[in-house]
Amino acid sequence: MNDYRNFLSEILIDEETLQQRVIELGEEISRDYRGKEGLLLVCILRGGITFMVDLMRRIDVPHMMDCMAISSYGAGNFESTGNVRVTYDLQTNIADKNVLIVEDIVDSGRTISHVLEMLQTRRPASLKICALLDKAERREADVPIDYRGFVIPDKYVFGYGLDLDEHYRNLPFVAVVDLEKYKP
Ligand code: IMP
Ligand code: MG
Repeated sequence: MNDYRNFLSEILIDEETLQQRVIELGEEISRDYRGKEGLLLVCILRGGITFMVDLMRRIDVPHMMDCMAISSYGAGNFESTGNVRVTYDLQTNIADKNVLIVEDIVDSGRTISHVLEMLQTRRPASLKICALLDKAERREADVPIDYRGFVIPDKYVFGYGLDLDEHYRNLPFVAVVDLEKYKP
């Protein structure tokens, strides 16, 4: 794999800014869920992992965590199709739990709206969304984002959990790819 500097257009959100926002979100979530029983963080694999791991350490109310994986059928690299399928399901019974979905990015909103619909049928006590990034101008499905890290422009980003062909998730910042220069 290529060094990311070869196709880096710009660093959109640097490490310090990300970590500061994660602290704020953790505080906000802790405040809102204090005194409530059964908070369950649900990480959407794989993009949500990095954010989830940082965020949960900033949440100081008791909680559990679980993961689920979704695949967008027939998706090209830069689009999701809306044909969403669960490839790994939760191991936790979410009935009567206060569920908070932790997602890397909401783009068209199709993925998350499918997840919401599906989890709602399992009768959680509450169901909310925490998304690190919001590509608001691309929204097609109406999804309520309860906790939002940053609104970003319609550009393809990578790093901090987000991938380019499954690579670069480890980078501690969110960067914009220069598609002219990127060759997988
Ligand atoms: P949506 O269904 O269109 O909202 O797409 C959401 C999913 O597409 C996210 O969970 C990401 O996995 C992926 N995605 C959307 N935009 C980007 C991006 O700029 N970089 C990396 N992945 C992205
Ligand atoms: Mg994702």
